[in-house]
Amino acid sequence: MNLPANAGVPGHLAVIMDGNGRWAAKRGRPRWMGHARGAQTAREVVAYCARLGVQHLTLYAFSSDNWKRPREEVGFLLDLFASHLDRQLTELCANGIRLSIIGRRDRLPATLVAKMEDAEARTAQGTRMHLRVAIDYSSKAALQQAFARVNAGDGEWPAEPLLPNVDLLLRTGGERRLSDFLLWECAYAELAFHEALFPDLTTAHLDAVFADFAGRDRRFGGLDSAPAPVGSA
Ligand code: FPP
Repeated sequence: MNLPANAGVPGHLAVIMDGNGRWAAKRGRPRWMGHARGAQTAREVVAYCARLGVQHLTLYAFSSDNWKRPREEVGFLLDLFASHLDRQLTELCANGIRLSIIGRRDRLPATLVAKMEDAEARTAQGTRMHLRVAIDYSSKAALQQAFARVNAGDGEWPAEPLLPNVDLLLRTGGERRLSDFLLWECAYAELAFHEALFPDLTTAHLDAVFADFAGRDRRFGGLDSAPAPVGSA
């Protein structure tokens, strides 16, 4: 059963897309096939979340620690991001989805950075959902940078120092950890850990995760249920 738009749907959903390698290994296939299939799933998740009325969706595509992986796998992932940016740009624009890439850019290939900047500029007017894809991202590094900016300035936080608060963090693949993702923004996030390997994640799984989220009693440190402060940093 699909939920009606906005009812019980998180304002900001963050997803750790884990399990691509195991998905491929289970089928006796190379790991890159799991990533390729995961990218298709990511596209479906984006479309479904936009349909349901999720306002902010943040996907963890490549952590700063993922540079430790074999060169071939890293190269495949970076090429995959570039080709998906090319293929999905029209769809993002047509659906009013704004795309931002978060993370370091100085270690990425210049061609990929150019595509990222182009996609960000061409989707900047999208108001239906803000999709953020984290590439070469480390939450600890992002926090260190933010603190350094505050220290170098007048000691005040800039108006929008980080991302909106996360309402629901979903990690697929059965592991139960945050892996340096949105540590600050997840201060009051509800956590959902799903056994499905990311390429196997379906809209029915998402419905179940959202239904569970809708039943959570969020008190934000108080005694009464409180509405989520959606979008506030
Ligand atoms: C973690 O699974 C997954 C990644 C490091 C890559 C995630 C990337 C995608 C799903 C593609 C997204 C593409 C776009 C365009 C957003 P893992 O490799 O650690 O899996 P394992 O734990 O089974 O080894």
